[in-house]
Amino acid sequence: VAQPAAGGATPAASDTIVLGEVGSLTGAQATFGVSTRNGVDLAIKEANAAGGVKGKKLKVIVYDDQGKPEEAAQAVTRLITQDKVVLILGEVASSNSLAMAEKAQAAGVPMITPSSTNPSVTEKGEYIFRVCFIDPFQGFVMAKFAREHLKADRVAILQDNKSAYSIGLTDVFTQKFAEMGGKIVTTQSYSQGDTNFRAQLTAIKKEKPQAIYVPGYYNDVGIIARQAREMGVTVPLMGGDGWDSEKLYELAGNALDGSYFSNHYSPSNPDPKVQKFISDYKAAYGGVPDALAALGYDAAKVAIAALERAQDTSGPAVRDAIAQTKDFPGVAGNITLDQNRNAVKSAAILKIGNGKTEFVTTINP
Ligand code: PHE
Repeated sequence: VAQPAAGGATPAASDTIVLGEVGSLTGAQATFGVSTRNGVDLAIKEANAAGGVKGKKLKVIVYDDQGKPEEAAQAVTRLITQDKVVLILGEVASSNSLAMAEKAQAAGVPMITPSSTNPSVTEKGEYIFRVCFIDPFQGFVMAKFAREHLKADRVAILQDNKSAYSIGLTDVFTQKFAEMGGKIVTTQSYSQGDTNFRAQLTAIKKEKPQAIYVPGYYNDVGIIARQAREMGVTVPLMGGDGWDSEKLYELAGNALDGSYFSNHYSPSNPDPKVQKFISDYKAAYGGVPDALAALGYDAAKVAIAALERAQDTSGPAVRDAIAQTKDFPGVAGNITLDQNRNAVKSAAILKIGNGKTEFVTTINP
């Protein structure tokens, strides 16, 4: 772990506190960045309407990384050296957060990823936090669901070998499913952005699995599902949070009906604070917020609360304040950060039908 230089803002005479955000506002996973942006924006607007933080208004400088790790790293460098932000929010995709965390840690500027679940992100150092669960839990959740709910003995995996997230989930699922007495009949790979998955699906079909675990991002999964059905593969597909996007259903049509994925939040949660968030979000941006929007909102809220508590806006003071986050009532669950700067939270399992998700169950850590 690199030792950071004292970072954060130079205490200038200013009436604003400047935060940074990096996300995929364009590119193959654009809904990730756009939803997160909306969630962050809502939280910042609420805070400013309530008077800001420490008597100052909050401002967020946002850079689009097009979903690319190199761009994400450059954006963080710009936020730190040029914009002098006190804290950075982002990214969604773990591979992009890993590239950012390296830079933020080295500069001693706190970073909170709303939704990156790969364990190595926060292992980059004591300045890096997340407000979501990690993949060892998410992989366990789906393995348990496959064994206990789907009663599957034989499962195939189709992983994205360009994504730290997908590789991590594959490893955990493989291990847990075997521990629970199941068998992984084959593990096939693709690279994100591929458009023809028929060779891998042929190899999978031959093994006659009872379900297929596809821990990828929605843009690839939608095409995979369609091709699988065209080839007569009818078993349920299972996935993780990376499936969560309205676009998934546009791409897949009905091909994912009867499939399942694990996620951070369910919009059908009757909790009044969740329902208020959903109606405020709808009014401001249109559409039901997905998990990215919920976690973006929660990450910004945790940041705002920490800034409020911090002695000043220097890197070390803000870092310490974030680390003390305890029982914070997020719309995607309560947030307590553990000593590894991860949130310990439950996961929801959602079932897809008619281009919509239906809540199935919650699995607690
Ligand atoms: N957890 C995913 C990753 O680490 C990102 C993601 C989170 C995608 C939530 C969709 C919803 O790469």
